[in-house]
Amino acid sequence: AQSVTQPDAHVTVSEEDSLQLKCKYSTPWSTYLFWYVQYPQQRLQLLLKYYSGDPVVQGLNDFEAEFNKSDSSFHLRKASVHWSDSAVYFCALSAQCLSL
Ligand SMILES: *[C@@H]1O[C@H](CO)[C@@H](O)[C@H](O)[C@H]1NC(C)=O
Repeated sequence: AQSVTQPDAHVTVSEEDSLQLKCKYSTPWSTYLFWYVQYPQQRLQLLLKYYSGDPVVQGLNDFEAEFNKSDSSFHLRKASVHWSDSAVYFCALSAQCLSL
């Protein structure tokens, strides 16, 4: 009953361009939302998470994501990308109460 969808499999941007990675979620419950990143040859790491409060969440490396309830989205964005941002980005959700 719960899912996340990342419509763009591959995103190519130029150095210093802005970046948006889309994430739409579907859940009947209140939820925790997460963005994880996996840099080449590294482990998955948490970029940021949202549960409640300010819908704009700041993360590592100048990333931020915005929770939009009416749109059921949690898009990740960065104002100016660097080549070192090349990675695999995962949107995730959990309906459980986690202690992080
Ligand atoms: C949330 O999404 C809706 C529908 O796409 C959009 O009209 C609205 O501007 C968004 N809200 C914010 C705060 O970005």
